[in-house]
Parts: sequence; structure tokens; C-alpha cells
Amino acid sequence: MLIEKLCNNHDLSDGEFRTLLETDVYDDALRTAADAVRREHYGTEVYLRGLIEFTNYCRNDCLYCGIRRSNTAASRYRLTEEDILACCEEGYALGYRTFVLQGGEDAYFTDERVCRIVSAIRERYPACAVTLSIGERPRASYQAFYDAGAERYLLRHETADPQLYSRLHPAELHLENRIRCLYDLKEIGYQVGAGMMVGCPYQTTEHLIRDLRFLQELQPDMIGIGPFLPHKDTPFRDAEKGDLYLVLRLLGVLRLMFPEVLLPATTALGTIHPLGREMGLKMGANVIMPNLSPVSVRKKYMLYDDKICTGEESAQCVNCLANRVNSAGYQVVSSRGDALRCRKAEK
Ligand code: 5AD
Ligand code: FES
Repeated sequence: MLIEKLCNNHDLSDGEFRTLLETDVYDDALRTAADAVRREHYGTEVYLRGLIEFTNYCRNDCLYCGIRRSNTAASRYRLTEEDILACCEEGYALGYRTFVLQGGEDAYFTDERVCRIVSAIRERYPACAVTLSIGERPRASYQAFYDAGAERYLLRHETADPQLYSRLHPAELHLENRIRCLYDLKEIGYQVGAGMMVGCPYQTTEHLIRDLRFLQELQPDMIGIGPFLPHKDTPFRDAEKGDLYLVLRLLGVLRLMFPEVLLPATTALGTIHPLGREMGLKMGANVIMPNLSPVSVRKKYMLYDDKICTGEESAQCVNCLANRVNSAGYQVVSSRGDALRCRKAEK
């Protein structure tokens, strides 16, 4: 049986992956197996990452993204270092031990500025991990951020297929460079997160299988996936949304392929369906990334239409999420939630 085989070998042939991804007949068995594997490695723990969206200026023009530079309707903002530290203070009091600084590719945030912010957070909250998610930079910049105390980096590869990549991105962006960034980050010693959008325009099952093969090579510590969702001020405004069930199926597949990987139930998953994140947790996801950004800027970090949690206070989000996690049968824990490989290395 396909699911057993995937469970035992952590791999399938391309043909078998295709069969599994293109039908719902295996979904119940997949959920049972994925949940068993997550419980074996992580019990019922769910890790929290406090997301601070600190700038929506972006020099890139990705066709799917609401904060692309051509979107003149977007109202732009940057948080100051004080704003960011205030988010951390609030987050720390709410139990967060990881802060994710995410932003567009904003030239204002030079290496020096980023390093200052990272060091300031590490100094004030030595028990907390700092994750950066600020796009493609030269290797030397990544090294400088690491030396300043950032230990984790999120950079979705978006798609591992060069043709599809070029249909989703402007000509100046290249898949090769993105992959170079991911390997640089790994070599420097970061815990690395990659991932793809599911159901974006032109994507086929073959493309997704290519993503799985790429992830097998890269062996990231975290894999973030979510459905593509259109944004009204982008060229993909009229494109179809990704399919909730395909995202869930992929989460299950990823849990079985990578038993110890950190797998977030993403905001996009919670946006496409009111119980999307809960369904994700039951399919093997073990990380949640609540929004810690100031309420005043939340609606401005609109990557896609109808994004959730843009009107709530941070405390409301964390309570809401703790309840949601409990209702799905799991518990949020207040810890750094390092990748298992790192925890084992420390022992
Ligand atoms: N729909 C879904 N996800 C999106 N992202 C950006 N735009 C969209 C969209 N329209 C995702 C990308 C990016 C992450 C921060 O958000 O995968 O890496
Ligand atoms: Fe933000 Fe529910 S998680 S309001």
C-alpha cells in the first residue's frame, strides 16, 4: 500500500507520488499515518513563532504578491527598531521564545541595520531565537546576520521548476540564485526553512513532485507551504485559488518524507478555510506562526486578499490559536522549538 511504503521508505517513485497527490482516496490513511509520525517525534507539542512583519517595501515584483513593487495601491510602512523591540516585549510576555522578522526586500534595512536589530533582540532576550525572512542577499550578509545572532532563516524556494519560476517572477529573478541562497544559509549553519506555494497559476503535479525532489536534496529544517491566494492588485488577480485538500495532502506527504521536519500550519491555510490550520495540524503540522506585528500595520502586509488576523491584537491571536490548537488535540508550548537535529547535537 502506498502510504505504508511512504512511511517505511520516506520516498516513492514519481508515478506513485502522482497517484497519491491526484486523488483523495488515500487522505484518511495519510492523516492517520502522518499524525502517528508527528506524535512519535514531537508528541502533541506545537511550537509558536511570533511573526513581526517589519517592512512592506519590496524591490521585487513577484507576480503573485500583494506587496510587489508595482503595486502602487499598497500603502508602505517600516517599523523602527523601537517598534520591533516593543513587539518582542509583548511577545515575550505572551510566551513567545522565537521571533521571526519578516519583510519585503527593502534596501533601507542594510546589513548594518539588520545586524543592530538582531543583536538588540538577542541581548534583551537571550533565551529567544531570532529568525530572519528578508529574501535574497549575498552570502556575506547572511554571515553577518548569523554572527549578530540570527540562527534561523526562512526563504521559500516557491517552485523548484525553472520554467514555472520564470512565469511567476520578473526576468531579473532566477531560481538558481534562490537555491544558491538556501545552500549558503545551510553552510553558514542556519536552521533553514524552504517551501512552495501550492496551486499557483500554471502549476502541475509534476512541478510539485519536482519540489519534493528538491526538498529531499536540500533537507531543510522547516518546510512552509500554503495555498496560492490571489491578490486584487496583482497580475494574478483573476487566477484560481490553490486547493485546500491538495495542501493538506502535501503536508501529510511531507511529514512522512521528513519525519522530524518543522511543518507550519500557515496563515494562508487559515485564510482559505476557517479551520484550515486545525486541519493542517491533524495532517502532521507542528508549528504555528501568530502575528505579532502592531495592529496599525497589519492590513498593509497584505500578500493576498482577505488575510486573517489583520484586525486582532497579538494577545487575541495567541489566545485564539492556543484554543484552536487544543481543539485539534494538541498543545502550544513556550520554548524555542529548535529543529530536532539541533537539539540532538546539543545533548
Ligand atoms: N498567495 C499565497 N502565498 C503567497 N505568498 C506571497 N504571495 C502569496 C499569495 N498571493 C507567500 C510566498 C512567500 C511568503 C512570505 O508568502 O510563498 O514566500
Ligand atoms: Fe489570529 Fe485567531 S489566530 S485571531
